Amino acid sequence: MEAEIEKVILSEAAIKERVQNIAKRIVVDYEGKKLTVIGVLNGGLIFLADLIRHIPFTVKIDTVRVNTYLGDATYPKREADIVDNIRLKVKGEHVIVVDDILDTGKTLAKTLQMIKEQNPLSIKICVLLNKRARREENVVADYSCFDIENQFVVGYGLDFDNKYRNLPYIAVLKT
Ligand code: IMP
Ligand code: MG
Repeated sequence: MEAEIEKVILSEAAIKERVQNIAKRIVVDYEGKKLTVIGVLNGGLIFLADLIRHIPFTVKIDTVRVNTYLGDATYPKREADIVDNIRLKVKGEHVIVVDDILDTGKTLAKTLQMIKEQNPLSIKICVLLNKRARREENVVADYSCFDIENQFVVGYGLDFDNKYRNLPYIAVLKT
């Protein structure tokens, strides 16, 4: 796997430190409140697991599975579909949705729309990476660990062709 890596842009140590800092902010903001954290599969899996272990109070966890279809010649529009919704009821709960990356915003726009139908008390977004240059939807990251350039990255949950999710750092692949 390592032979296919061009460059590490965020080291394991840098991610660890930043995730801890973001978790501290969440702890301050949600202490004493009813919190449900919802991870977006598959990409948000690693970040979700690391983040929630820094939360010292009771928190409920659930996941959604979202398929994002990349545009191509026959179907140029990039669209997101919820293929597996949350099982928990979030009415009366504060919700944080956790994903690996905020890119065009389609995935999180769709996820938020689904969750809002249940009337949670509040809903915020927490992402590891933010690619501002590519935004198409009006979605804002309330908590974001790193802003990155418009480049394709893998590792720490992010994949290319379902590979590289288990790398402990964020990297750019050789072309
Ligand atoms: P969206 O464009 O904001 O809907 O992002 C959709 C999904 O595309 C994200 O949840 C990621 O799983 C994936 N994605 C976006 N940018 C990258 C990248 O640089 N590497 C790997 N996956 C990405
Ligand atoms: Mg994803």
